[in-house]
Amino acid sequence: MMNMMNMMNKNTLLAVLLTLTAAGASANNNKVEIGKAAVEKCVACHGANFNETLDSSYPKLAGQHKDYLIQALKAYQRGVKGTAGRNNAIMAGQVQDLSNEQIEAIATYLNSLPTTLVVKK
Ligand code: HEC
Repeated sequence: MMNMMNMMNKNTLLAVLLTLTAAGASANNNKVEIGKAAVEKCVACHGANFNETLDSSYPKLAGQHKDYLIQALKAYQRGVKGTAGRNNAIMAGQVQDLSNEQIEAIATYLNSLPTTLVVKK
């Protein structure tokens, strides 16, 4: 009887865990989709695959760390007004209307892309 109870509890726990994992994965897929839509206007400079940029002074974004991208986008929003802001006329114009949710989604999407960024050893 005790073993039966243990098994049922384990199965219930497993079912709950599987449901939670699926919910987490689909939330991430959602973010990727929202991010994908939000970066349509970025393609002109950063390149269709975010690896081949329009100019070599334009940074590659594909595969970049998510946290770094969030930090960079918020810094362009702050501009010179805040501490640790980034003062760039081109990017300031691109990020003004982005919400924190969009920034998070953009960073999730860009991070998910195949990248040619490498660390030289
Ligand atoms: C008109 C060209 C142009 C467009 C459009 C553009 N960018 Fe940029 N982006 C640049 C340039 C130039 C830089 C480098 C600016 C600097 O020196 O700080 C940059 C820098 C960045 C960086 C910092 C990367 C790093 O390695 O620090 C991020 C992130 C970024 N852009 C994201 C975006 C996103 C997201 C969009 C669309 C919403 C976008 N950009 C649209 C030209 C553009």
